[in-house]
Formats: sequence, structure tokens, C-alpha cells
Amino acid sequence: MIVGVVKEGRPGEARVAATPATVGQLRKLGYDVVVEPGAGAAATFPDEAYLQAGADVGDAVKADVVLGVNALTAEQRALVRPGATVVGILGPATDATLLAELARLGVTALAMDAVPRISRAQSLDVLSSMANIAGYRAVIEAANVFGRFFTGQVTAAGKVPPATVLVAGVGVAGLAAIGAAGSLGAIVRATDPRPEVADQVRSLGGEYLAVPSAEAEVSATGYAKEMSDDYNARAARLYAEQLRDVDIVITTALIPGRPAPRLITAEMVAGMKPGSVVVDLAAANGGNVEGTVAGEAVVTGNGVTILGYTDLAGRLPAQASQLYGTNVVNLLKLLTPQADGELVLDLEDPVQRSITVVRGGEITWPPPPVSVSAAPAATTADQPRAPVQAPEPRQRPVAVRVTALASAAAAVFLLVAASPAALRGHLTVFALAIVIGYYVIGHVHHALHTPLMSVTNAISGIIVVGAILQLGSPSLLVTSLAAVAVLVAAINVFGGFAVTRRMLGMFRRGPA
Ligand code: NAI
Repeated sequence: MIVGVVKEGRPGEARVAATPATVGQLRKLGYDVVVEPGAGAAATFPDEAYLQAGADVGDAVKADVVLGVNALTAEQRALVRPGATVVGILGPATDATLLAELARLGVTALAMDAVPRISRAQSLDVLSSMANIAGYRAVIEAANVFGRFFTGQVTAAGKVPPATVLVAGVGVAGLAAIGAAGSLGAIVRATDPRPEVADQVRSLGGEYLAVPSAEAEVSATGYAKEMSDDYNARAARLYAEQLRDVDIVITTALIPGRPAPRLITAEMVAGMKPGSVVVDLAAANGGNVEGTVAGEAVVTGNGVTILGYTDLAGRLPAQASQLYGTNVVNLLKLLTPQADGELVLDLEDPVQRSITVVRGGEITWPPPPVSVSAAPAATTADQPRAPVQAPEPRQRPVAVRVTALASAAAAVFLLVAASPAALRGHLTVFALAIVIGYYVIGHVHHALHTPLMSVTNAISGIIVVGAILQLGSPSLLVTSLAAVAVLVAAINVFGGFAVTRRMLGMFRRGPA
């Protein structure tokens, strides 16, 4: 089959649905790729780069599978072949007219923005990949407008305090914003009705601000529900207080399928310091901030800039195209199980069913709901929880335990009585080592096992040295045991180094 990559028709759109790198991946799946002339130019991918990657440059909209970032324009739709498959961010929940038009054309339409947020579908989730870029870019846009450093400095010309950033809504975009603002040196605070995000905020170096409310419960879906008036009133107090103090506010609050929750009033903005910046990521959806104008930068009477840009991901077009293109490749991997260039749609698969909004001329939106579980299940706020009976710990009868203990004690006594004095000392040390090791190592949290392993390398090192000294022993048994000890302890030492190196690599910036 031929995959076509169209030039985006939406004004100002700089992204493209495939990059030269992802064209190579599409070809590995058995597809021939045609890219419309100039499709990647605004994202810094010239036609020559696509040609080098093995694509043809030509009429892409007539291909069997038509890839776009946005929905095709009316002119492009007029050229699409009936029976073709079109892929893009189609907004099926809000654009019923587009779905009707696609159905009339007899095509199959796959909406990249309808991917369910389940772990299996993460690699196709364009909303997450675009929100991640938007969160980062929101910080860069704010820094561009803000007239001061983000980081604090002590200079010969005086002390510069760090900027303080408040992030409202800690989903994908919010976390990206916290990371970006923190890496520029700002003090970052963040709030969200889902208390389970507190650890994520802290792990990025931010401070989690909880709204004191009984409503703030761990969500079962990973999404917040619409909050009550009581919660909103308490949150409003927190925002009013914070906005007087912070320099930058980035709002990303979203409840799927609802207009953006209004978090910040004009009065709160009026209480901010002149020169402060608000970035409202929800601008396209009605805005989290009173006074936001979608797509515009507005300066209020007290000198606060409110940025309502709706194309934040597209402002990093090369990066956004690469991530979007990879999401599309992952989709086509799913739809091309034989890697033979033949697209097969399996509507029994909940992921494929969810994104199929038009199938051969028939509207198939909305799909049946997919249960999303991003947090520990059974802690839903809406369902009463059945009391959980702790299982009775399984214990052996007392008589058996006493007998086992007495036998073990007798065995140890006999061993100690029969052994030479030197061995007695060693046995005592050995017994103590087992008890201390059990309590020290057995109670270490799993997350700390790798650092612990590095420490045990030292112990393994002692074993290696001791065993090497025994290797020359005249007894075959001692030599064999020493050889085994050297081997096992060496595996522990080198394995420990390898795992620790990998862990450190995760935290290292740039190529290792
Ligand atoms: P998400 O669903 O991952 O996160 C939204 C967060 O808002 C959740 O953590 C939720 O708990 C929180 N939230 C809900 N109600 C709240 C309330 N009353 N107060 C505080 N927090 C609340 O969404 P994602 O993917 O991070 O997207 C965030 C926003 O960014 C969306 O509105 C999306 O449309 C927008 N976006 C904007 C772009 C732009 O160019 N402006 C580009 C990409 C995304």
C-alpha cells in the first residue's frame, strides 16, 4: 500500500505527520511513502531529506493511507480516494460535520486524538506527546515575556531572587512545565485535585500545594472529576493567595469532555505583581483564566501578560513532528501485524476501535467506553468501598513451631560443642551476621535495592579475596568451594556495577 504524507492546509501549522526518520520506519513496515512537495519545509525537513529516506515526492492525498496532523481541508478531501484510510487529529467529539463529510466520501477515518489513555496505547497517544511539548513551550514563552531571570543569582551587582512559578493542573502538560521551569532554576509550586500527583511534583523538585478538602481523593481513572462548589471556593482562596506572591502562572486544568474549569478570576490577576506572566494552556477550550483570548497575548491594566496561545506544540515543529510521526508509526505497526505494507483494522481491539471514527462510509463514533485505570483501582471516590478483611496470617501450630525452634537450638548447641575453639568464634560471627543481615537488608525498601547492591559489592569483594587465598589449598573440596565462591561473588560485583551504571545513566543528561 502507499502511504501519503500531506502538506498541512491549516493556516500557521508548521508540523508534518512524518519526518525523514519516521519515513524509514514506515518503509520497514512494507509501505511505499509519498510526501507532498514542501510538506516538511516549515518543520525544517526539506524534500531532499525525504527522498534520501526512500520516499517519493508527489501527490500524497490520493494514497491508500493519508497521513496528516490536522483534518484534511475541503480541497484535500475532494481528492481523497473512496476506500482510503485517513489519519489525523480529527476532534471527533467536537466536529460532527467533519465526520459526516468523511462518511459521505466513503473513507475510513482514524482519529489520533481518540486514543484511550491506557498503558498499552501510550506509544500512540498524541495528546500526551503534544501536551508534553506544550507544557515545556509554555515555560519558554513565559520566560520570553518575563523581564527577569528564572534562576536566582548572587552577582557583584547584587542578589537576584529566583522566579516563582505556579502550575495549576498536574497532568502531562503540567508535569512538563514543572520540569522545564525547575530546570531553568525557578521555585515551582503546583496544585491539582488528585493527591496522587503530589509525589510526582516533589520528584521534579516542586512543592505540592493541596487544597484542603475531603473531595481530593485518589482518582481511579487518572482524570479529575468536576469539582464541587466547596472545593472550588477553597481552591479560589489558595489561588488568590498564591497569585499575590508568584511571578508566573501556568494553567493546564482539564476535565475530559467538559469546558475548561475556570480557576483564576480577573480579580486574582489584578492582584498579581506588574510584569507577571500567565500562560493559559486551556485557551482553546474556554480557558482556565478569566481574560484569556485564544491565540493572543493580552496585557492587563496592571501589567500582567496573559498568553492564550493554542499552537504551543506547533511552536516546536521539528520536535512535535518527530513525536507525532513516531506515534503514527506505532499506530501503523499495530495495524500492520505482518509488516507487509497491508493495513488491517481489527475492531475487536479496544484501541483500534476507539480511534476508528468512520469505517467505510459509516460513522462509528463514539466508541464503547474503555476502562482506564491509571491509579490503584478500588479507590474511586464515587463507589462505596466494601470493608476489606485482612487475611489471617498463615501460622503453623504452636507445638510445631516450638519443636522446630528447640531442634534448631539443640543442633546449634551440638555443633558449637563439637567444634574447635576457633570455629566457635566464626560460628558466632556467622549467626550474628545472618540476624543483622536479615533485619538490615530484608527491611530495605525495594526502590533502594540498587544502591544497597553497590554496598554489598564491598562485601562480595572481601569474599573474592578470601576465596582467592584458599584456591591454593591441598584439599580438592576447599579449592572447588573457593572457585565457586570467587565466581558467584564476582558475578555479584560486576552485576552490581552494571546495574548501578545503568541507573546513573538514567539521570545523566546528554549522550552517555
Ligand atoms: P491531562 O488530562 O493530562 O491533565 C489535566 C490536569 O488537570 C489533570 O491532572 C487534572 O487532575 C487537572 N485538573 C482538573 N480539574 C482541575 C481543577 N479544577 N483544578 C486544578 N487542576 C485540575 O491534560 P494534558 O494532556 O496535560 O493537557 C492539559 C491542557 O493543555 C488541556 O486543556 C489541553 O487541551 C491543553 N493543550 C494545549 C496546547 C496548546 O497549544 N495551548 C497543546 C496541547 C495541550
